[in-house]
Amino acid sequence: MLSDNKAATSTLMKNYDVVIIGAGAAGMMCAIEAGKRGRKVLVIDHAKKPGEKIRISGGGRCNFTNIGTKFDKFLSLNPRFCISALKRYSQHDFIKLVEQYEIAYHEKALGQLFCDGSAQQIVDMLLREMEDAGVELRLNTSVDRVERNENVGEDTEQGQYWIGLEHHEITAQSLVIASGAKSIPKMGATGFGYDIARQFDVPVTDTRPALVPLTFSDDTLDLVKPLSGISVESTVRHQSKELGKASFDEALLFTHRGLSGPSILQISSYWREGDEITADLARGKNISDELKTMRSDAGKQSIANVLARLIPAKLAQMIVDKAGISGNLADQNNAKLEQIGQMVNAWRLKPAGSEGYRTAEVTLGGVETSALNAKTMQAKNTDGLYFIGEVVDMTGWLGGYNFQWAWSSGWVCGQDC
Ligand code: FDA
Repeated sequence: MLSDNKAATSTLMKNYDVVIIGAGAAGMMCAIEAGKRGRKVLVIDHAKKPGEKIRISGGGRCNFTNIGTKFDKFLSLNPRFCISALKRYSQHDFIKLVEQYEIAYHEKALGQLFCDGSAQQIVDMLLREMEDAGVELRLNTSVDRVERNENVGEDTEQGQYWIGLEHHEITAQSLVIASGAKSIPKMGATGFGYDIARQFDVPVTDTRPALVPLTFSDDTLDLVKPLSGISVESTVRHQSKELGKASFDEALLFTHRGLSGPSILQISSYWREGDEITADLARGKNISDELKTMRSDAGKQSIANVLARLIPAKLAQMIVDKAGISGNLADQNNAKLEQIGQMVNAWRLKPAGSEGYRTAEVTLGGVETSALNAKTMQAKNTDGLYFIGEVVDMTGWLGGYNFQWAWSSGWVCGQDC
């Protein structure tokens, strides 16, 4: 029981089969499935609206899944943990649901599926499904505390969890934690799910911001700041003992604080403080070879102007200035052109940090998968307690993988809770 004081208010109490904390992607999917099974389901969220991250995702068009979703697109202490859920509710299942609602979509690139119209269509679809499944949704509602009633028998009406809300308390047989993680605190992201996990002795890994812009200081910041707003097709690489080699062929964007764009967001999930990354700022072009070839017909032009035919002009100027090279192309020997080629095709950088949870799309790490049942998402040590979505240590690459994890983990939980 929560406390004598709270127990006195028990006349207000309502009993649910399933209480889900978090009306995000995972929580809503779980609610739909549990509701369809005839379970009495309540979803609680402290936000004013459900599915806010869905609404703002993918630049307002929601990259709702990826055709190529597979476990190798996930980071976790055990990436294979997601295989079972992804198989039972796959990207094709979610696409079918989207098509059933006649939501128009397109593949943007690399298997990434986006709505043609607004991301709100996905939120509306989920709300409609929840309504059809008889799910109750309570917004603007904070959970004060959760306790487990150890004395509940099979035949009692009261659930095994007490959930203290602001003005009253409720009980549930199953408690599903779908409260997401720490990214974008301004949108209501909290470490609530981790606190609940720890309360029930469910282990939580270290967590850190991921899919996040990287920042620079000192000399490198002085170099990149004037390039803010410039985007190039790049390959960004990282290598470490723990995570091996990672490499992403996507756009890179210079910002006033450092680097962003898909290739940088992707590599940020692998990067750790003190590590170096390598960026090819002209993917598909061998800059030193091209400059050597151009020497015969463009030799009388300045090296900066010729380089500007291959990469954005401001970037070209920065590279030649940094290399300390001036004059015409014809004046440069092979070693100098190779030096420039190296700087463009294999720029080695040491980020100072990242923009942190303020702008991170996701949180790396979370509730340890070894403590959960992969088929149901139930905590192995606590009957009726489930963790789904981003709160779990399962982080996808950029490109629709994180929503697919939310749909899949929510769906399998909904079959069991
Ligand atoms: P989610 O964070 O969506 O939901 C958790 C809910 O719990 C929230 O509604 C929150 O208010 C609520 N909550 C938290 N603490 C609570 C408490 N104590 N009490 C009550 N309620 C509480 N992924 C992708 O695949 N494609 C994309 O296009 C994008 N784009 C994107 C853009 C941006 C800007 C961000 C920040 C993130 C993305 N993502 C993404 C990632 C994606 O949004 C993320 O992986 C999912 O929203 C995770 O879904 P969950 O349901 O687990 O958490």
